[in-house]
Amino acid sequence: MHERHNYGTECARRISGHSARQQPASPGTRRETSQRRYTVVRRKRVISMAQSVEGNTVVSGESGKEEVETTSAYGEWCLSVAPMMDWTDRVCRAFHRTLAPGARLYTEMMHAQAVIHGDRERLLGFDPMEHPVALQLGGSEPAALAQAARIGADWGYDEINLNCGCPSDRVQAGRFGACLMREPTLVAECVAAMRAVVSIPVTVKCRLGVDEQEEYGTLLGFIDTVAAGGCDTFVVHARKAWLKGLSPKENREVPPLRYGHVYRLKQERPALRILINGGITAVDAARAHLAQVDGVMLGRAAYHDPHVLHRLDAVLAGTAEQSREALLRAFLPWVNAQLAQGLALRHVTRHILGLFHGQPGGRAFRQILSEGTSRPGAGIELIEHALRATQDLSRAA
Ligand SMILES: Cc1cc2nc3c(=O)[nH]c(=O)nc-3n(C[C@H](O)[C@H](O)[C@H](O)COP(=O)(O)O)c2cc1C
Repeated sequence: MHERHNYGTECARRISGHSARQQPASPGTRRETSQRRYTVVRRKRVISMAQSVEGNTVVSGESGKEEVETTSAYGEWCLSVAPMMDWTDRVCRAFHRTLAPGARLYTEMMHAQAVIHGDRERLLGFDPMEHPVALQLGGSEPAALAQAARIGADWGYDEINLNCGCPSDRVQAGRFGACLMREPTLVAECVAAMRAVVSIPVTVKCRLGVDEQEEYGTLLGFIDTVAAGGCDTFVVHARKAWLKGLSPKENREVPPLRYGHVYRLKQERPALRILINGGITAVDAARAHLAQVDGVMLGRAAYHDPHVLHRLDAVLAGTAEQSREALLRAFLPWVNAQLAQGLALRHVTRHILGLFHGQPGGRAFRQILSEGTSRPGAGIELIEHALRATQDLSRAA
């Protein structure tokens, strides 16, 4: 079992205004006090990323391995960005890292068998600036999950997270995701198998329950059983899922949010680290949650209105809020380096469309990027152009 703490006070201290971060950071200027040092096992990757991310700190480790210093100015579990299929790919995560230097990032869910048999560079490759970054796995076979977790740990991930919340038909047919809420003993076995082969945290992301599971006691039973398998950190999407009759999208909207269940879980199991997820769209709401639980995880809001992610990070870190333009400019050197290595512009622009969400000129920003991104020869100038047009409209407003 991991060493257990009562984490609630750390985030509460952060939201009351005490901060470790002295200055805003961008990927190129990460110079804060190091609270943790991440070993990156693959030397080749570190070197290529060091070239592509200007100024990121890369130093030699004790055993000849490369190490990358990175930090969270607040507790490293306080704020995270949810795993989202087709959305939180490596480019999206790099963008989110620029906006929120202290947030924990999650990959899209990957099935254990894909990790074992698939193209690992494509599936697992990530940039050192993403740390802390968690690999989310799907599956329900302990041995396969253990093998995949080991591969993820060897690739340098900071956490392995098991998906017990996805309700899609395909996932149910494979007996993983949300339907595992009915099989806590199996989940505990999966956790135990993974924990036996990795030293990084193994965590679980779950729902309140599925189908007729309405009672708080059912959630508690699930958590207790899985905790007995060695999991001390749970991300709880604060609504249940209907396994029949609702699409995955509806299952993120229709079942009511019950934050009270998650708060109660933290009160009754203070030794567990409990992160809350679901419907958190504003800084004040996130701060209110942080007074009750150990961390907040933002999904759709972080994607569609990414500046809210930045504002929350700045509040937690006690740093000055940066403008959307400054954040985008801080991201551009990274984008440039990726384009030079052959990445198509559209793989970048799709993730930044929401940056000016709700702002004068925000629509023009989206439109210019969406329309221009697939034109032959489209490059970084398109982003500059969208930015200028947005600023002009903003000044005129
Ligand atoms: C497009 C999309 C893809 C998602 N994919 C995953 C996934 O791969 N794994 C997972 O655990 N949850 C996934 N989710 C659910 C989110 O992680 C999160 O639990 C959910 O969106 C509720 O949080 P929110 O209200 O902040 O968006 C996905 C959500 C969206 C919108």
